[in-house]
Amino acid sequence: MIDQTTIRQVQNAADIVEIIGQHVSLKRAGRNFLGLCPFHEEKTPSFSVSPTKGIFKCFGCGAGGSVFQFLMRKDRISFPEAVRSLAQQLGIPIAQRQAGPDDQRKIHLADVNQWAAGLFRKNLLHPDHGRAVRRYLDDRGLTAQIQEEFKLGLALPGWDNLIRAATTAGHSSELLIAAGLVTASQSARAPYDRFRNRLIFPIVDVAQRVVAFAGRVLDPDSDANTPKYLNSPQTVLFDKSSCLYGLNAARQAIARKNQAIVVEGYTDCLMAHQNGLANVVATMGTALTSEHAAILRRFCDRVVVVFDSDQAGRAAAERALDIFLRPRIALKVARVPDDKDPCDYIDKHGSEAFEQLIANAADALEYKWQLTRQAQADPASPAAKHRAIREFLLAVARSAYFDASDPVWRGLLLNHLAKLLSVPPPQVLAMVNRLKAQVPGFTGRTPPSSDSPAQTQGPLTTFERALRQLLQVLLNKPSYIEKVAAVLGPDDFTDPALGPLAQAIFKWAAGSDQPQLAQLLADHADLEQADLITSLAQEGSQKGNFQDNLAGALDYINTHHRQNQLRQTAEALRNAQADLSDQQINQMLQQVQSQLRTHDQRNPGLRV
Ligand code: UTP
Ligand code: MN
Repeated sequence: MIDQTTIRQVQNAADIVEIIGQHVSLKRAGRNFLGLCPFHEEKTPSFSVSPTKGIFKCFGCGAGGSVFQFLMRKDRISFPEAVRSLAQQLGIPIAQRQAGPDDQRKIHLADVNQWAAGLFRKNLLHPDHGRAVRRYLDDRGLTAQIQEEFKLGLALPGWDNLIRAATTAGHSSELLIAAGLVTASQSARAPYDRFRNRLIFPIVDVAQRVVAFAGRVLDPDSDANTPKYLNSPQTVLFDKSSCLYGLNAARQAIARKNQAIVVEGYTDCLMAHQNGLANVVATMGTALTSEHAAILRRFCDRVVVVFDSDQAGRAAAERALDIFLRPRIALKVARVPDDKDPCDYIDKHGSEAFEQLIANAADALEYKWQLTRQAQADPASPAAKHRAIREFLLAVARSAYFDASDPVWRGLLLNHLAKLLSVPPPQVLAMVNRLKAQVPGFTGRTPPSSDSPAQTQGPLTTFERALRQLLQVLLNKPSYIEKVAAVLGPDDFTDPALGPLAQAIFKWAAGSDQPQLAQLLADHADLEQADLITSLAQEGSQKGNFQDNLAGALDYINTHHRQNQLRQTAEALRNAQADLSDQQINQMLQQVQSQLRTHDQRNPGLRV
């Protein structure tokens, strides 16, 4: 929690050429500086730093942003960490923001969880109460040391052990219920403990807060309705679908190795760490989601997902494709052989055998491609290959990441796909675009899957290009905001990637006297967004001709709006069964369409 003024102050005090120059050897080239990009392998410099704009941009890999994003990427640190580190270097004291009510809530929840973790731990270490479970853990090969490191605990049998201890310790039942440690239901006379007779895995976030618990069933005779694992409910501190178990213990090793290994189970994660595999984390009963990917990408750019050898694992592998298309994560998949999970496998074969599995992991896109091919009837035939290509590219077309991402990344992805399918890149692109038109999502027939972005999109229409061009101009000439705002607002940007950015860009452009790009980037800590902002700014300045390009885009958008209005009017007329014939209505629509085409021809810049 660092306040905005301090962030600005650090940003203004930092000389971007000097800071980046400490890591990259930069040579002056006109108004900018050039060097070899530290974020990808290259022999000729495509990494450029602009001291006037306060930004860097690599034309090879697309990475871009302010001095903060440079440090985030280079040192694998979060935005606040980058600000702190730079502030320290520059001798600027950091002012903390006052904690708001939401922050207060989080602090209270983390406190009560911390207390509960201590209670569970004491139960496990209790000479009598914990004996059987300690023996169980010992049988499974989990040492006392790893139990201590991951703060494993025990929830005793009985309905109110925790509640009674909490009352003595002065924790309100309201807080216990909010944290999910205690359940209050209408059918029960009194609130009761959520975790009973379970082995407890506290879930700790990277800020070392206990955010939730997972409890594994201990009673071998428990009935089939009892879930094997029980989690804390979702709270402001805990969201199962974006949380990674063990990240607090693994983050440094992940950054050091520039690789994260993701397994499915808590015990898999523990056994890995016990055997010196420190860069392992576990998802919690869900497949890898794009939120997970975004978190991991802060620390590394290589991720290996390890699946159990059962069918469920395979299903999960098939769902991972969308994640792979997310910018700048190299995703691989590995499978544990012989009906085992990583825990058993490491216990039996040792960490080196496991590392070998990781080293042999298959590229996720390639793996998915193999699965798609094998699923066809008569897989060796040319017809089967054709069907497989279509099905495969349909999955790509469905992914919102393909269009939404940085153009450089999209280019790299295209090349990768082209190599995989042995089809030239332009042809791949053409096929993807054609398939998009057939994606059922456009007509709302398929509900979006829970871990892919809600919106699927088509090839960029002229309208979308006009919107894009508008942002390209605004980022270079924020003073045009008044002209723009007279025609449209940020709500007109429905694209899942551009929408939130448009909000911020409009606000930024209207905000101060002479808005600096670096300022916008300071408010947009996310690396992916920084890449996109700098790409748009770059595309805009390359096109130049700001006034004309803005006029062209606004012109088009105006007409587009008119066309929509007309369409709505026509629809309304039709519904009202007015006297207008279909022919008359069509004529009106055609007029506008030809108007649009003329605009298209007059503004070739929009056809990028
Ligand atoms: P496993 O059944 O493989 O559990 O489920 P495990 O972690 O290997 O546990 P052991 O080795 O049998 O003790 C893998 C993961 O799926 C989630 C948990 O995250 C678990 O670690 N899961 C499983 C649930 O969330 N709920 C369940 O009921 C079962
Ligand atoms: Mn398992």
